[in-house]
Amino acid sequence: MSTTFQLDTSTSRANPTPQPMKRLTVPRIRARKTDGVTEDPLVMLTAYTARQAQLLDAHCDLLLVGDSLGQVIYGLPSTIPVTMEMMANHGAAVVRGSYHSVVVIDMPFGSYEASREQAFDSAARLLKETGAAAVKLEGGAAMAPTVEFLNTRGVPVMGHVGLTPQAVNVLGGYAARGRSDAEADKIVSDAKALDEAGAFAIVVEGVVEPIAIAVTEAVSCPTIGIGASAKCDGQVLVTDDMLGMFERVPRFVKRYENIAEIIEKTVATYASEVRARSFPGEEQTYQPKG
Ligand code: KIV
Repeated sequence: MSTTFQLDTSTSRANPTPQPMKRLTVPRIRARKTDGVTEDPLVMLTAYTARQAQLLDAHCDLLLVGDSLGQVIYGLPSTIPVTMEMMANHGAAVVRGSYHSVVVIDMPFGSYEASREQAFDSAARLLKETGAAAVKLEGGAAMAPTVEFLNTRGVPVMGHVGLTPQAVNVLGGYAARGRSDAEADKIVSDAKALDEAGAFAIVVEGVVEPIAIAVTEAVSCPTIGIGASAKCDGQVLVTDDMLGMFERVPRFVKRYENIAEIIEKTVATYASEVRARSFPGEEQTYQPKG
């Protein structure tokens, strides 16, 4: 698939993709789970930049502009300090760098919890400024009225239950959830409430496997697992984690590569060539013509 973008002028219908109507849509993602069965699991990864989006796009169904960019890009201690400006800027970059996947943007902490109206204003701003198709917000039954409010006003919503990192100060850490019966029941009922409110998919993060399976069986929309179960309707990982950009990753992350090692080796070679004055060589140096 080419990553060269051209403006389509063959139709008056505004469409931000170089192949009109080829971008996956939220209803198509939702329809991947029919009568409780998802034949073709959903593939989602986080993306924060245009170039990263270009590289991931053809392989994914959804790109998530996660508020994990707080830690991954900005070196923040948690997702709590992430701002609307950060989400809007990175969201727009990811939409510019993709034309196949549905782009979903995380609503940052403090931008949606106060009221349904606050949530709509924030979501509308993110969709307008980025061209993304949907937002994601954290929380269960308490957020269901907000999900319904947004969904019925043109904003598709992805839910997020289980370990919800924006609630780290309430949860007291990032440990897996659902180990007690009460916690497990709450996660399942939270997911059901979001499903009934019209969430088109639900991220299930950091829960013991039987709970991930129970949630997946209990809801009609697709579940997307992270630290959950292979039996979820799809999976998501933080791209920089699975590529090996960080030394330490949570247990549920599979590191498919060690990109940090490749970068360090490459940079060490560059530094030693600069110090030895062997870079730039003849091939990288301009000489006068003639
Ligand atoms: O912010 C994020 O990257 C997320 C995923 C881990 C699901 O919410």
